[in-house]
Amino acid sequence: MNVVILAAGMGKRMQSALPKVLHPLAGKPLLQHVIDTARSLKPSKLCVIYGHGGAAVPEMVAKLAESTGAAIDTALQQPQLGTGHAVMQAVPQIDDNAPTLVLYGDVPLTTADSLQRLVEAAGKDKLAILTVEQANPFGLGRIVRENGNIVRIVEEKDANEAERAIREINSGIMVIPTSRLKSWLESLSNNNAQGEYYLTDIVAKAVAEGVPVVSAQPSAEWEVAGVNSKVQLAELERRHQLNIANALLEKGVTLMDPARIDVRGELVCGRDVVIDVGCVFEGRVEIADGVSIGPNCVLVNARIGAGAQIKPFCHIEDAVVGDKSQIGPYARLRPGTQLGEDVHVGNFVEIKNSTVAAHSKANHLAYVGDATVGSRVNIGAGTITCNYDGANKFRTVIEDDAFIGSDSQLVAPVTVGAGATLGAGTTLTKDAPAGKLTISRPKQMTIENWKRPVKVKK
Ligand code: UD1
Ligand code: CA
Repeated sequence: MNVVILAAGMGKRMQSALPKVLHPLAGKPLLQHVIDTARSLKPSKLCVIYGHGGAAVPEMVAKLAESTGAAIDTALQQPQLGTGHAVMQAVPQIDDNAPTLVLYGDVPLTTADSLQRLVEAAGKDKLAILTVEQANPFGLGRIVRENGNIVRIVEEKDANEAERAIREINSGIMVIPTSRLKSWLESLSNNNAQGEYYLTDIVAKAVAEGVPVVSAQPSAEWEVAGVNSKVQLAELERRHQLNIANALLEKGVTLMDPARIDVRGELVCGRDVVIDVGCVFEGRVEIADGVSIGPNCVLVNARIGAGAQIKPFCHIEDAVVGDKSQIGPYARLRPGTQLGEDVHVGNFVEIKNSTVAAHSKANHLAYVGDATVGSRVNIGAGTITCNYDGANKFRTVIEDDAFIGSDSQLVAPVTVGAGATLGAGTTLTKDAPAGKLTISRPKQMTIENWKRPVKVKK
């Protein structure tokens, strides 16, 4: 099968410099949703028609093709003279021996199942149209039937009153026998209300030539909803998020409110996972059995081990959290953080590019960057690894069972030996030997007979 995706339109109502099909839905460009769905049907040819927005659309397509190692053709439509004219641009690329599926780059949520049904309805030699009955069909092409058979499509602007009363609309998605399509496109005219070459005019041509025209229906109306404005984009985003939330619920995940979760990527959950309101998941996030995620957390490309608890307001990115760990509230795990089992990271603690082994704790107000932290280490409040001298980064090593007193600065590169204790307020510039107390604080003293200054009378 050939797939042609129309994506040359302007999208004026988006009120944006970004081409319409590149606006993200669930963190992914609209066009990429369509391409991903198209690819799941294993087409032999895939061609994206672009026009408005300059190089941005073909650049995005090229990147996608490169990252997945499968070819995607593009063809420029300039100027844009209608949907029929758009499909004409793909003619040199598509293969006569297989049918052609036409999709729109701004209709992101059509399911592969519905498209599969349409492809099956078309078989080898029929023209199949994805249609739906709409309560308000205004603006859309109407499916005109005689004795139940589709005879043509009429656009809103060309329709008479009786035709405008028809509720069955053309979604725009069709499967067409390709060699016929090519000859029909050659004979299209733009003699209509909009002066455009309508792809929809091929329907009457098919009927005239005795090619059967059939229809299939999507499982839900939102599957054929297009995006022409930010309002419609927002509506489809909510629809899509609700679909994702429902799929998570079906798999046994507890969502405190399925209307208040946003998944912009892939979220994989084990059994007995609880997710509170206002959480955002980006990239690939894996959550193991028995994890609870508190309200208002953001997790990006993260793995959370079994039984871990993520308390409210945490930001976790490119990080791994070990089983039974407790994170937050208000913790930040930055890229390269790997926490072992039962690690506790408390409020206002930031960890970056560091490993922290089992049972270690940093419960309050700390910065741990470029560090290797052993097991059962206690990192006191206010501890800072000074990993950066303004030019280069250095590592801090804290071995098993060390105790770092509050408000210490560890000036890297530096090592705290196993079982060492740092006194509170230590500025560590040389290694602290294992098992001993190291302290850099000046000795405390008290000045006898000292008096507070008093205000001088003028
Ligand atoms: C088209 C259909 C209409 C259908 C409606 C569904 C025609 C003539 N009409 O309407 O029956 O109900 O879609 O939304 O086909 N595009 C191009 N190049 C162009 C024109 C459009 O690539 O020259 C792309 C747009 O980017 C968009 C899609 O084709 O993705 C549909 O274009 P749009 O203008 O939204 O649809 P209509 O022509 O109004
Ligand atoms: Ca449209």
